[in-house]
Amino acid sequence: MKRPPRSSPRSAKKAGRTVSIVSTGSYVPERVLTNADLSASVDTTDDWITIRTGIKTRRIAAKDEYTSDMAARAALAAMEQANIAAEDIELILLATASPDMIFPATACFVQQKIGARNAACLDVSAACAGFLFALEIAQQFIATNTYETVLVIGAEKLSSITNWTDRNTCVLFGDGAGAAILQHRSESTHGVISTHIGSDGQYADILWMPGGGCRQPITAENAHQHLQTIHMSGKDVYKQAVVSMLDASNKALDKAGLTIDDIACIIPHQANIRIIEAIADRMKIPIERFFVNLDRYGNTSAAAVAIALDEANRSGRLKPGDYILMVVFGGGLTWASSVIEW
Ligand code: COA
Repeated sequence: MKRPPRSSPRSAKKAGRTVSIVSTGSYVPERVLTNADLSASVDTTDDWITIRTGIKTRRIAAKDEYTSDMAARAALAAMEQANIAAEDIELILLATASPDMIFPATACFVQQKIGARNAACLDVSAACAGFLFALEIAQQFIATNTYETVLVIGAEKLSSITNWTDRNTCVLFGDGAGAAILQHRSESTHGVISTHIGSDGQYADILWMPGGGCRQPITAENAHQHLQTIHMSGKDVYKQAVVSMLDASNKALDKAGLTIDDIACIIPHQANIRIIEAIADRMKIPIERFFVNLDRYGNTSAAAVAIALDEANRSGRLKPGDYILMVVFGGGLTWASSVIEW
């Protein structure tokens, strides 16, 4: 849907140069894990998972397929779409909660795999909100003339940090990667209109992986405690997700000088269909306005909104000139939103 906005979004546009998403890419691993498969290993059912989450299947990476491999595949797809050479990429920002290792940054492995030898590389740690945090950082570098071409990736191998004996969490997550290339295009007025990012460390312990850092290193004594897996207080996360995503959406829309009625497509974090339905209900807009693929991939954390953006783009759901809203939420707590003229 494209309607005349209430006020001109151009007047609200961010300071500096226009920053456009010039291409997108994504990759999901081959192996499909169904709800029925899960019900053979933990006490759950297809019905429970479908009704409470909307998830039917998720993808699981091979043992020797790492976050950097999936990230590189998504990046190469984005580079191919816009015909961007690896040497032209000046910055790689990789959002992930499941890096190949604590250091070096997984972005450095991606650099090596795609041959982007001129890029500076760093990982962004903002859990499920990471892709939009990275997009905002990229946006700032381009708007201020520091870089021309930035590769932003969200990639996760959550299967490696999932406690497969915990039915409260193991049914929710999956693996995959999504990427976008950002540039200033002098001939184009389309691009990022507004963004909003935020965090609240008070709630750090409702969604976290407590072990594996300096606070609780994994030792022979605690190895059986599953400290190096996702721990979550589902109900608390649910409540915070709805509140934060609504608030973040309104903030980005206000900054853009637009209302929700101006938005053709909302691409939300793909955690749970009930969270998306609650947001649609409170915004008083039909659920069809949201792009949803969580039924096929589950929650792929930082990769989720990036994969959804690529699928929406490649399927023709996003039309030139459309206003789109991306909104995400994750551990930290973190949240972020972005309004883009496509
Ligand atoms: N299969 C069957 N039963 C399950 C189950 C599963 N996979 N997981 C939990 N249950 C059980 C619980 O043990 C509980 O049983 P009890 O009543 O006997 O104690 C019952 O189902 C209800 O659990 P509850 O946690 O109240 O369910 P819920 O309606 O809150 O749904 C979530 C659970 C996790 C789906 C929901 O809270 C949620 O989506 N939270 C947000 C999670 C999220 O998005 N995280 C990532 C954010 S980036």
